[in-house]
Parts: sequence; C-alpha cells; structure tokens
Amino acid sequence: MKKIHVAKAASVNRTIRVQGDKSMSHRAVIIGSLAEGVTEITNMLEAEDTLNTVNVYRQLGVKIEKKGLKYFVSGRGLFTLREPQKKLYTGNSGTLIRLSLGVLCAQHFSSEITGDEQIVKRPMKRVMTPLAQMGAKFESRNGLAPVIVHGISLKGITHKMSVASAQVKSAILLAALHANGATEITEGHKSRDHTERMLKHFGADIRVKAKTIRLVPGKKLQGSKVFVPGDISSAAYFIAAGVILKNSKITMKDTGLNPTRTGIIDVLKKMGAKISVKGLKERNCEPIGDITAVSSKLKGTLIRGAIIPRLIDEIPVIAVAAAFAKGKTTIRDAGELRVKETDRIAVMVKNLRRVGVRADEFPDGMVIHGLNGAPFKYADIDSFGDHRVAMAFTIGGLAGENGMLVKDTACVNTSFPDFFRIVEGMKK
Ligand code: S3P
Repeated sequence: MKKIHVAKAASVNRTIRVQGDKSMSHRAVIIGSLAEGVTEITNMLEAEDTLNTVNVYRQLGVKIEKKGLKYFVSGRGLFTLREPQKKLYTGNSGTLIRLSLGVLCAQHFSSEITGDEQIVKRPMKRVMTPLAQMGAKFESRNGLAPVIVHGISLKGITHKMSVASAQVKSAILLAALHANGATEITEGHKSRDHTERMLKHFGADIRVKAKTIRLVPGKKLQGSKVFVPGDISSAAYFIAAGVILKNSKITMKDTGLNPTRTGIIDVLKKMGAKISVKGLKERNCEPIGDITAVSSKLKGTLIRGAIIPRLIDEIPVIAVAAAFAKGKTTIRDAGELRVKETDRIAVMVKNLRRVGVRADEFPDGMVIHGLNGAPFKYADIDSFGDHRVAMAFTIGGLAGENGMLVKDTACVNTSFPDFFRIVEGMKK
C-alpha cells in the first residue's frame, strides 16, 4: 500500500500535458478491433485500465502492436473475434467490462469476463438487461461479475435509458452494430458521446438528433487514424490546482473539450474561477484545445441535474475545490457516485471532515461548507483504493497548511500514471 507525503506548494506557473483520454483510448482499441484494416492510435493512454483493454482484445485474436509512440490495431471486422483461451480480465475498468459485454454477446462463442475486487461489486445488470432485450444470453450471480456470455444473434431495440451512463449506452451501440435491424436509444440527461463520435469517424451509419441516437447496422467499420487528446478528467486536478493555489497559472495543452465532459469548467467558472480556453480545433470528430486556470477566489454553488453526467468523474476534485470556496456547495442528483470505484459520496465526506471541512451526505450527493480560502489541516487521507480520491486530496494537500499524507496511492496507475511526476515537477 503505497503512501505519499504531499508537501505544501508555493505558487505554480507551468504549462503541462496530461496523458491521453481514458474513455477514448478504450474505445479506439475496441472499435479498432471491430473495424477492417489498421487503426493507428496516437497518444493512447498507457495506464492499467487501457492496457487491460489491449490485453483483452489481444486474447480475442486481435493483433495490437506498439511501434514507437503509436499503437496499431489490426481489426478483424464484425463477428470475427476469436474464442479466448481463458477468462478475460478487465482489472479495475468499468468501461472495459461493460463495453465488452456488448461486444461479446454478439460473437460466435462463449466467454467469461471478470475484474478486480472493486469491479466484482459494481452493477452489471444495467448493461445486461438492455442487452438481454436484444437477445443476449448471460450467466451471473446477482447481476455481478464474473459474467459468462453466450454469443448469439441479436435484434435491434428501441431503448429509453434509465440511468445516464455512457458505458451502458456504448455497450448497446456496440451490440447494435451486430444486430438485425436498427437500434434507437433515447437519453434523459446526455452522457459522454465518444462512442457515437468514434463510430461515425469509422464509417458507421449512426445519427444523433437531440437526445436520440439511431444506429443502422450493416455498414462495415473502416480502420482509421485516432488522435487521443489529453484527458480532461486528468486535467481536472491541475485546473483545480491552478485555481486554488495562490499566485498560480497552469496551462494544459491539447486537452479534450468534448461538451459532454466539460462540466467542470462550467461549474468552476460559475464559482468564480478564472479559466480560459484557447486554440480550439477538431481532431477525429472531437474538439480539443488548451485550458488555462489562474488563482481565483471561489464562492459556493449548487450542482445538480443535467450537468451531473458532464462532470461525474470530476466530483471528487470539485468537492476539494469547493472546500476552499466561500459559502456552501451542494451537489445533488449524483447517486451514481455510490457505484463508482468506491462509494465516492461516503469516502469524500469522510476525508473532507478529516482535513477540517464541514461536509454532510445526502443519498444522492453532499454539501460542503467552504473554508473561504483557509488551508486544509494536515491529515491522513485514505483513498480506499480509488484513484480519483487519491488525486483530489493530493491537490488539496498542495494547498494545505502542512501538506497531507495520502494513503493507498498505487490506484492512480489505473488512469493517470504520470500524475505524481507532474505534481513533483510543479514544485521545481
Ligand atoms: C465512462 C463513463 C462514465 C465514467 C467512467 C468512464 C466511459 O461511467 O464515470 O469513468 O468511458 O464511458 P458511466 O457511464 O457508468 O456513468
């Protein structure tokens, strides 16, 4: 169990690049595996979660090579994955296991898929239920991994999403590529749309009109070039650092700015943060640009409703930033946090109290009473093996009275192995 002592940081003036977007890296490998021809991935995230995706799709017969800094995926085409010789292991990755359930249920073989001790506790029924409506056959105990998947022919469905989940939506879309007949999905609140954009980039017949997505199967996917921008969920820690550290300015180059992911910028700006975006351009159907965050005085706010899926993974670091604000910040409609890598509502409230912040839980969120710029008290923080909790409190520690001790930090390697190196570099 690796622990890190975070020392207090002085002002920071830096331009950095965070590692590639995790959601897009998973999808480039998975969709590349289902395409015909070679997919060339630049700036792929090399972290435990996405390297597990590479392993799983190699086990399914896909040739995936790294040459120089790029990954090359030699796609096998739809319906042509190979029966794996052993259980497929997804490690800590919810995206990998859920999206792969959508792929495996349409193949000509049976397979078994599972993950680590956090994954086997996370709900899989939300994916298996709509896939079963398409005809998919699964065996599991109480809707949890391990899941045995019996490949079968599928039919298209019309589906109304009951939770805002890009993982569920994407699993259905990947299955829909293999189905007889069109599939139509309608969302309540819009979740991240990288699958829709990437399927379009690969030539699928997919149309999005407001909150409804229609996919008509039958068109082959064509191997493509994918540039993976910096992950805004990783940039989030340094956006928050730039805002809460005194006399600081941090710029993050070439970061993904997909509007379904930029809720953190909207919320922090509403709280008074000075954040600007420059050099906006588009690469493979995804907007990217440079984000600059400058020291700011924050005020509390209310975060609820449609914005929640647009910042769901950033709530731990937003909660830390809110603790430096004047007044209270209330987060509601975020019950999904309870089924992430940990119960992030319980874990955040517990740790915020340890550093001297008044915080309370709601079933679907929390309230944080800001310290109005006063620093966090020194404390031992337990991440409970949750990467986003470990990184959020590391940033809080930089602005602490006496730093912070963050326990159980190896989990950071699931999404952002460069994190502590960048933090150290900011102090030099
Ligand atoms: C992800 C979707 C989100 C997010 C997760 C990555 C994805 O989960 O929390 O870290 O890549 O599709 P849900 O779709 O379950 O909300």
